[in-house]
Amino acid sequence: MQKPTPTDVEHEVKSVDMIVSKGDAEGNITYTNPIFMKISGYTQGELLDQPHSILRHPDMPKVIFKYLWENLQEGKEVYAYVKNLCKDGGYYWILAQVRVAKNPDGSFRNYVSTRKNITENAKKSISELYAKLLEVEKAEGVEASEKALMDFLAENGQSKETFNSFMQALNK
Ligand SMILES: Cc1cc2nc3c(=O)[nH]c(=O)nc-3n(C[C@H](O)[C@H](O)[C@H](O)COP(=O)(O)O)c2cc1C
Repeated sequence: MQKPTPTDVEHEVKSVDMIVSKGDAEGNITYTNPIFMKISGYTQGELLDQPHSILRHPDMPKVIFKYLWENLQEGKEVYAYVKNLCKDGGYYWILAQVRVAKNPDGSFRNYVSTRKNITENAKKSISELYAKLLEVEKAEGVEASEKALMDFLAENGQSKETFNSFMQALNK
């Protein structure tokens, strides 16, 4: 499927919306709830077995997904702000909680992402941060943007250890 051309049309995510998807070990979509399809504009048939990167917006810095996958692979949950690309080229912002679900015997079951709406304040500070990370990434690569992300945390008195609680607190 060809990637949509991004537009500056924002799709609204309401405070009651809980956008859920599940993924296999490679991150391919195995489940989406109805609101996921409504906001992204894709049908279930278009989404199942596709990589989650079908939603990847070019404004998203790579380092956020690197951080996400590194933590998931260590079994840790991540709260991250994501700007997603819709089928019509529009976008929506969400705060995603992504975690690993296990079977009763402790083996890997799937990855689960639950996404909710974000405040205008969070949108403003995170879009500024991501624009800066993207710029650093384009000029100097992902390692440099990883350092810029860590600097941003440190400037706010935070660290990797407090990343999740800080992201949630920013959504006020
Ligand atoms: C459960 C789960 C949900 C995900 N949800 C999204 C999402 O909503 N948007 C997105 O761009 N990437 C999402 N990802 C991350 C993608 O797998 C991928 O790393 C990202 O889109 C970057 O793609 P790329 O590495 O091919 O550039 C999710 C991953 C998992 C495991």
